Amino acid sequence: MPRLHVRSARELAVELDGGQRFALHPIWLRERCRDARSMDLRTGQRLHDPSDLDPDLSITSVSEPESGLYRIRFSDGHEADLVGRQLLEEAALAPADHDVPAPVLWDATTGQVRRFGWTATPDDAQLHEWLRRFLEAGFIVFRGVPVLPGSLLSVGATFGFTRETNFGALFDVRSTAEASDLAYTSLPLDPHTDNPYRDPVPGVQLLHCLVNETSGGLSTLVDGFAAARALEDRDPDAFALLSRTPVRFRYQDEATDLVASAVPIQLDADGGLVAIHFSPRLDFVPLQPPERLDAYYRARRAFDRLLRSPEFEIRFLLAAGELLMMDNRRLLHGRTGFDPAEGVRHLQGCYIDIDGPRSLYRVVRRRLAGKHRG
Ligand SMILES: [Fe+2]
Repeated sequence: MPRLHVRSARELAVELDGGQRFALHPIWLRERCRDARSMDLRTGQRLHDPSDLDPDLSITSVSEPESGLYRIRFSDGHEADLVGRQLLEEAALAPADHDVPAPVLWDATTGQVRRFGWTATPDDAQLHEWLRRFLEAGFIVFRGVPVLPGSLLSVGATFGFTRETNFGALFDVRSTAEASDLAYTSLPLDPHTDNPYRDPVPGVQLLHCLVNETSGGLSTLVDGFAAARALEDRDPDAFALLSRTPVRFRYQDEATDLVASAVPIQLDADGGLVAIHFSPRLDFVPLQPPERLDAYYRARRAFDRLLRSPEFEIRFLLAAGELLMMDNRRLLHGRTGFDPAEGVRHLQGCYIDIDGPRSLYRVVRRRLAGKHRG
C-alpha cells in the first residue's frame, strides 16, 4: 500500500508501492477537499470549477492533528482536513484501473468453464462471487435459467441495463433459410467480437440456450487479451500495427446503415489493453499504399492465427437452460458448425453495457464491507 508523510510544514508527500516518492500537488489536494464550501456533501460534486483556482496555488501549512488526518491550509486561504485513507485508496489505483478485479488472462490450458446455479434472488455473497468470476475471467456460465423466451432479459437486468439495438431488446439465434447474418445459419463461426460496427460497441453479450438438439454447435471462447499479449511477445511489430490501424466495420440492411472505425487492439495511454475489435467477416481496412497494406495484412494474419489456434480456444456445449455472459470487448466467441437435420438449436442473445457489472460489483463490495463492520 502507498504511504503518506508530512515531509515539511508545506509538503505532504506520497510513497508509492514501487518506491517512487513525490510531493502531492496543491491543486490535486485542493480538488479533493470534502468540506461544505468545496463540495456538495450529498452528491459529492464540486461546488467550484477547479480551473478557476490560482495556477500557482501552494500549501502554506500541513499538519497531522490526529493519525491519518491531514489539515492543510492553501495559499488562497482555504483550510480543510483530508482523510489519508481516501487519498491512499485513490493513489493505489493505476491510471486505467476501474477499481474492480483485474482480468486474469487465460488460454486453452488455464481457461475453465465453471457453471454457476442461477437464482433470480441472489444474496450479496453470491453476487460478489459471480461478478468477481465474470470480471476476472471475462465470462460466466449460469445453469438453471428458465427455458422461456425472454428470460435472459431478467438475467441481464440483474447486472445492468439492456442495450437495445436495431435487432431489438433481444435477438434469436437459429438457422433460417434467409439469414441476415451468418450467425443465423448452421455454418461454423470463427472467433469474433460482436457488432464492431456500433459506437459504442456492446460491452457484454448474454447468450441463453433454449433448445440444443444437435451434437455440434459447440460454443467457443478465446481470451482476446491473452492472445494479444502473446502476439506482442512473438511479433511486436504486428501488435504495434494492429494497435494503431483503424479498421472500418459496417452493417447494412434496409433500415440500418451502421459504420464505425476501431483499431483491432485498443490500448490506453499506458499500453494497457482496453478492447479487441475483431470480426474477420466484417472488417475493411481503409486504403493505404500497398507496402503498408502488406504489413497490415501480415499482422492481421498473425493475430488471426493465434485467435483460431487451439492454444487459446476453449469449447463447450451450452445446454438448454444455460446462459453465457461474456465481456464483448475482451473475449471473442464463435461456434462449431452443426447439422440442422439433427434437430433444433435455438439461442437468444442480448447486450448490456460493461459499466453495469462493474458498478454492481463496487456496490455489493461496499454493502458486504458495511455488514462486516456492523
Ligand atoms: Fe457473435
